[in-house]
Amino acid sequence: MSPPAHGRDLLTWYWDCARDLPWRARPEPWRVMVSEFMLQQTQVKTVLPRFEPFLALFPSPKAMVLEGEAAVIAAWAGLGFYRRASSLYAAAETIVSVHGGEVPGDLDALRSLRGVGDYTAAAVGSIAFGLSAAVLDGNVERVLARFHAFDGPSRRAKGKRQIQDFADELLNAEHPGDHNQAMMELGARICRPRSVDCSACPLSPACKGKERWWQFPNLPKAKSEIPLQLEGRLLLQAPGGEIAWRRRPASGLYANLPDLPAFEVGETHCAYGQPSGRAETQQRLSHRQLQFEAWLVPVERLPCDLLSGSVEAFLAEGPPTPVARLVRLLQASKG
Ligand code: ADE
Repeated sequence: MSPPAHGRDLLTWYWDCARDLPWRARPEPWRVMVSEFMLQQTQVKTVLPRFEPFLALFPSPKAMVLEGEAAVIAAWAGLGFYRRASSLYAAAETIVSVHGGEVPGDLDALRSLRGVGDYTAAAVGSIAFGLSAAVLDGNVERVLARFHAFDGPSRRAKGKRQIQDFADELLNAEHPGDHNQAMMELGARICRPRSVDCSACPLSPACKGKERWWQFPNLPKAKSEIPLQLEGRLLLQAPGGEIAWRRRPASGLYANLPDLPAFEVGETHCAYGQPSGRAETQQRLSHRQLQFEAWLVPVERLPCDLLSGSVEAFLAEGPPTPVARLVRLLQASKG
């Protein structure tokens, strides 16, 4: 079956107007895979300055495995959602041990890599290997729900299946990678959550929802409150400037990231000595709000059951963004 005319218009628009992005100019499988990991939950403008420097450090899955997981986590600093860095490292290990060092070019093998779900498998498969798989994320869901004026519950199983059918039907099997990126591009630049520019949209002539675009997709009401979590940190600092740190557990929040020793907020004394400075910061995550309180505690000697090093060396390991912020605030407070 030939693709519908609006599908061709979409591709023409993409080839004329798409942003010039580095993984598009050179869609080699490892580059595409790294780009898709970075772009999960992170905007293109944040990823852009980080992409080539990251690939220069880890030009292949094998190079990444040789550098080790801590180096990957450190190079990920500031991109957020750090589990992606650990997952990318685990995926690289599988690529080296099972697939001879080459990103596999089939959807099931891609999906079996850590951190690769349906969306990333379809994105990498279509962009790097020309596989016929339609991507579906929040952006594409919105474009399709508006295009078909679909007001079924798009996050429930039945609604999801309907939207996946819309996506499969529109996919251009000759150019699946460009088609998918065109859909992402429409969602990011034209058919946005709270604003649209229908006059610039190649799908507009056939779009059923454009007169009441704000009604689609039909999403569950946002949860109004997310829980507040109090976090306490100690910056134990020896006379020479060295500080104590630890690596976080391999699962849970900020898994594997370097961090400062913690204390239970509300404790009234510090086992290590008299604090000489205090800092606070907040970090909003998708599922909770973290409120940090941190104390600078000068000590004669650092505890031997913790790691230690200079402030700069700690920051270079890539701690969570709010922890890095606290360290800088406390160092600045010393004057
Ligand atoms: N978001 C996820 N993948 C993308 C891609 N390949 N191009 C632009 N934005 C994206």
